[in-house]
Formats: sequence, structure tokens, C-alpha cells
Amino acid sequence: MRIVLFGPPGAGKGTQARLLVERRRLRHVSTGIILRRAIREQTPVGQKAKLYMDEGKLVPGRLVRALAEEAINLVGNDNFILDGYPRTLEQAQWLTEYLNDRQVPLHAVVSLQVPEDVIVDRLSKRRVNKKTGENYHLDFNPPPPGVDPALIYRRQDDDPEAIRKRLEVYRRETEPLEEYFREEGCLYPILGVGEMDEVYERIEEVLRATEPV
Ligand code: AP5
Repeated sequence: MRIVLFGPPGAGKGTQARLLVERRRLRHVSTGIILRRAIREQTPVGQKAKLYMDEGKLVPGRLVRALAEEAINLVGNDNFILDGYPRTLEQAQWLTEYLNDRQVPLHAVVSLQVPEDVIVDRLSKRRVNKKTGENYHLDFNPPPPGVDPALIYRRQDDDPEAIRKRLEVYRRETEPLEEYFREEGCLYPILGVGEMDEVYERIEEVLRATEPV
């Protein structure tokens, strides 16, 4: 299966991708995770990307394209969930070109629909485990008691100003891709609100309907 998990910041892409990895053995390709790793390791790309990410802006496409294609190639160009890529029309065209050249088109773009007030609540109460990358929510999914509190942190781009900026960028640059994928015939909008397992079941329904036999 080759799928894109699409949606605004805080829609639950990373959370659902983790469930898909556990339950379907798909590989998770997240440009956000790759970029944050590059920042931690202080690579040249990471140093450039940090300037954009901390403010909630998009990292220049040519940097992200190379990282995304390398990561898709590394998982064998199949059985992956793309999360956070593509984010602009240009990136969507690059992705289509990359996959078509290898004759491995997408099966589905699952677009998580979540209202803005829910997004703001989710992001402002998100905490992340430094070691495992696991996402928590202070109310719905708090860090378990056994986890060392020193490992739990708030992402730099989850401060109110960066959240506002990311939502603005999403509406302007990324949301229009829904139309692109609708025309490609692979867009599946689903409701991203409710229990995490309920959302997962909605994704499963799409996968069952679109996976190759
Ligand atoms: P990225 O890391 O991709 O961030 P994002 O798209 O903004 O998405 P998030 O990780 O914030 O949210 P999510 O949808 O994964 O939600 P989550 O599951 O964590 O990108 C970060 C930055 O990198 C970008 O701003 C940009 O600068 C750069 N970048 C990345 N890709 C790029 C590209 N292609 N081009 C250019 N720049 C790029 O959930 C959020 C919270 O909600 C958590 O607390 C979670 O526990 C909670 N939650 C999840 N589901 C539920 C539920 N059902 N009920 C209650 N709470 C829930």
C-alpha cells in the first residue's frame, strides 16, 4: 500500500501513522520527523530548516524533495505512509512524477478533516517524547507515569504564534492540494475528530476499499 496522510497541523497524521505502522506494518515517512532529526544532528540541511520551522514556515521545497525521495526510496518505494509531504502543488507534482517513473502510483490520499478550534487545543497541549518521538496530549493521552518527565518536551513550533502561522500556511499552500488529488481520483476525506481508534477505523475502511487484491 502506498498512502499519503494529509491534513492540517495537529490533524493527527503522526498519531494515526504510528497506529498504521503497528497494525499494518507500513513504513512511516514523515518529512517533519526527518527535518527535526537533521536539526538535532546539526546537519547543513537541519541548520537551514530550523530557521523556517521554528517560525511555522515551510522549508524550501528543493531541500524537502531530496529528503522525501531518498526516504521513499529507502523503504523500497512501497508499503509506506507519507506524512507531511507533499505540502505544495510543486511538491505534489514532484511526487507524482517520482512515483509514476517507478510505476508505483498512490492508492489513497486520506485527508483528515478537523476544525480549527480542535487543532489549536491539540497542538497547544501536545507533548513529545524526546527519545521515542511518541506524541501525547495532556488531556486525552497524557504521558504514562513511568516515563521520565525530563524526556517530555513541547515542540518549538507548538507555541501560539507558530501555530497561527502554520495554520495560515496550511490554508494558503497545502489545502489546495485536495483539489489536485481529487482530480487524480485518489482523495478520501474522513472525519479526524473522535477517539483515536475511531479515526483509525475510518482510515481502515478507506484502505480496505482501495488496497490491491
Ligand atoms: P510536521 O512535523 O509534518 O508537522 P505538521 O504537519 O504541522 O503536523 P503535526 O506534526 O503538528 O501534527 P499531526 O497531524 O502529525 O498531529 P499529531 O498526530 O501530532 O512539520 C513540521 C514543520 O516541518 C512544518 O511546519 C515545516 O516547517 C516543515 N516541513 C515538514 N514537511 C515539509 C514539506 N513537505 N515542505 C516544507 N516544509 C516542511 O497530533 C497532534 C496532537 O493531537 C497530539 O497531542 C495528539 O496526541 C493529539 N491527537 C491526535 N489525534 C487525536 C484524537 N483523535 N483525539 C484527541 N487528541 C488527538
